[in-house]
Amino acid sequence: MSGDVRRLAAGYLRDGDPTGWFEPLYAEAGAGGAAVPWDVPEASAHLRAYPLPPGEGRRALVVGCGPGRDAEHIAAAGYATTAFDISPTAIELARSRHPDTAVDYVVADLLDPPGEWRRAFDLVLESNNVQALPASIRAAAIPAVGTFVAPGGTLLVLAAAAVTGDADGPPWPLSRDEVDAFAGDGLTIVSVERTAAPGSPLHSRWRAVLTR
Ligand SMILES: C[S@@+](CC[C@H](N)C(=O)[O-])C[C@H]1O[C@@H](n2cnc3c(N)ncnc32)[C@H](O)[C@@H]1O
Repeated sequence: MSGDVRRLAAGYLRDGDPTGWFEPLYAEAGAGGAAVPWDVPEASAHLRAYPLPPGEGRRALVVGCGPGRDAEHIAAAGYATTAFDISPTAIELARSRHPDTAVDYVVADLLDPPGEWRRAFDLVLESNNVQALPASIRAAAIPAVGTFVAPGGTLLVLAAAAVTGDADGPPWPLSRDEVDAFAGDGLTIVSVERTAAPGSPLHSRWRAVLTR
């Protein structure tokens, strides 16, 4: 993450608003200023490498969807897909980038989600979001993700396990204990893999699969 993005985040973190920096970052980027570090053209390579179960007749939820590349990948696999982000500008961007999309893009807060999402989705993707949240709200954010998973559904967690040369986040890599903590609220772990991602600043990564 660039120094500019870290400085922006640091100001909001100091003021006790740990998610406040996302909206101004997207807004500045839209105005031609800052670059959003995770705004890349393709769906995550780690998501593309995951063999998605068939999506027809199933619902998916993408947490912290940003500009929507991962949500579009999941929708293309046949899932009726909802994707949400706390940043209204990110949601506008996702809609404008994908004018013919089948994805329902929604502004929502992981820490205060719509009640009807509880246990409603056959597939839930959490990719690179919790690692952008400081310890102060992780204890609430991690179990919130699992609440969306329907009985028999799957939660896929993709996250940094280590980053290059960084003491200060964001991102703050997840510990194995934090990965295991996604298994609250009746979820069980199917697999947890730690893989290398050569060439990426997030050079070691978690891929965890859970089910209810
Ligand atoms: C580091 S980015 C990752 C974006 C995307 N998942 C990806 O992998 O490219 C974190 C995203 O989570 C969103 N976000 C942060 N806190 C959130 C919250 N409490 N509820 C919903 N979205 C949130 C941010 O606006 C941002 O788009």
